[in-house]
Amino acid sequence: MQIIHVAAECYPAAKVGGLGDVVGALGKYLNLSGHRGSVILPMYNTKYISNHSWELVFTSIAQLGIGDIEYRIFTDPLHTLGYELFLVDIKGLLDRDQVYGYEDDSTRFIAFQTAALDWISKSEQKPDLINVHDHHAALIPFMMQHCPCFSDLKNIPTVLTIHNGQYQGVMEWGNSVVIPKWDSWRWGLLDWNKLINPLASGIRCASRVTTVSQGYLKELRHHSNGLETLFEMEWHKCRGILNGIDTEVWNPETDKALAQTYTERNSEIGKYKSKKILCEQFNLDLEKPLFVFIGRLVGEKAADLLPQSLINSFHKIGRKMNFLILGSGQTEIENELNYLKQFSQNDYNAYIGYNEDLSHLMYAGADFILMPSRVEPCGLNQLYAMRYGTIPVVNNTGGLHDTVMDIGEPNGYGIKMSHASENEIIFSIYRAIECYADKEKLKQVIKQIMQLDFSWDKSIHNYIDLYESLILEN
Ligand code: ADP
Ligand code: GLC
Repeated sequence: MQIIHVAAECYPAAKVGGLGDVVGALGKYLNLSGHRGSVILPMYNTKYISNHSWELVFTSIAQLGIGDIEYRIFTDPLHTLGYELFLVDIKGLLDRDQVYGYEDDSTRFIAFQTAALDWISKSEQKPDLINVHDHHAALIPFMMQHCPCFSDLKNIPTVLTIHNGQYQGVMEWGNSVVIPKWDSWRWGLLDWNKLINPLASGIRCASRVTTVSQGYLKELRHHSNGLETLFEMEWHKCRGILNGIDTEVWNPETDKALAQTYTERNSEIGKYKSKKILCEQFNLDLEKPLFVFIGRLVGEKAADLLPQSLINSFHKIGRKMNFLILGSGQTEIENELNYLKQFSQNDYNAYIGYNEDLSHLMYAGADFILMPSRVEPCGLNQLYAMRYGTIPVVNNTGGLHDTVMDIGEPNGYGIKMSHASENEIIFSIYRAIECYADKEKLKQVIKQIMQLDFSWDKSIHNYIDLYESLILEN
């Protein structure tokens, strides 16, 4: 099969969060399974894209509703990443330092999707299926069916994968003029509550809709930021497929970012070496358990609860543990986390920013990873952490519900909160410290989580089965 993925992120070329990791891995593991999986991504000015050389493979003009745009398609002829990565270059629109966050993001991503489709429709060999990811690519199924300029793509099946239903790319109807000329009587397929809602349009128009865990799929029906009735209507098309992890990138046995590589046989010394470096670098106490948080500092991750929960943990439990935070996001949360540093007694620190190498060192050197997320469609952090022998302390939601079992259950290996609240976080930290004190139990749990298999080798087959059934149906 030839499958094209279209997305706004793809690791290592452009990554903001887990979307990038998953799209990159899907391309790679489809090829490893004997299929041709490629990825189309905007050509941003990220470090990776700027530092590599790319070959120009196509230049053309696409017709946006507001006028023609010139675009160019670049690729890495050596397929260094193990799959074909195609970059869409549109001068002035996509060539920015950041992936998101610009006032004209709606126009940028409509232009990206239009150029991607224009190139596919002008290519001799058409893909068997197009898998679009999140709202930045979710207008593609509509455009393939209802923009006359793409009518030759009408019969190609499409899959929309929802990594995060909170973000829907909503825009004013004024933006409808940017979309290439479309069948105007089909406006209802773009509209949701009197606005253009790309995610809602994708849910209606795609052949199938997947999301990144079964647990999150069930939640979407009742809590999907206004799309509940739409999920109810389109439920027959929806599937939950749990993400995997790229076990080559996330492997404590080979990871160059670690102080010392390790397997489950020598994890004690391996983890100790990384913890020691973290404690030296961030002024923490090596003797105490180390809790880390890695991620976007936003409400979905319940990062707003962190500052007060950490202070109150110290008050209620005592200064028996260290906390180290790595993340960036809402300015107020960043400021509060920075402010707390002055009260540290060698037991608290925060690195505000994005740092891939530090994240690897933290997955290895930590004893526990905190994820009190209010919403977590899958969550990759807990999967990476477990592979590195770090015990997850998570809220019982979405993918966290599906991938972590509480130590109170038979064969359990993590700590689960019943909901995201300050008290639940503090109580979970208390339970984790108890677990840390029981050295035999700790050893056994670390061994157990390092042996769990959340690899793509296992989960890529669910995507392949879905693609095959859609192509056969077609
Ligand atoms: P989300 O996609 O919602 O942000 P995930 O758990 O799926 O959450 O994936 C987050 C990914 O982003 C992980 O690979 C994590 O290590 C990475 N990440 C998040 N914040 C940072 C940061 N500040 N520095 C380095 N990596 C980060
Ligand atoms: C999203 C979700 C996260 C998921 C990731 C990859 O960003 O918030 O839970 O793991 O996508 O699918």
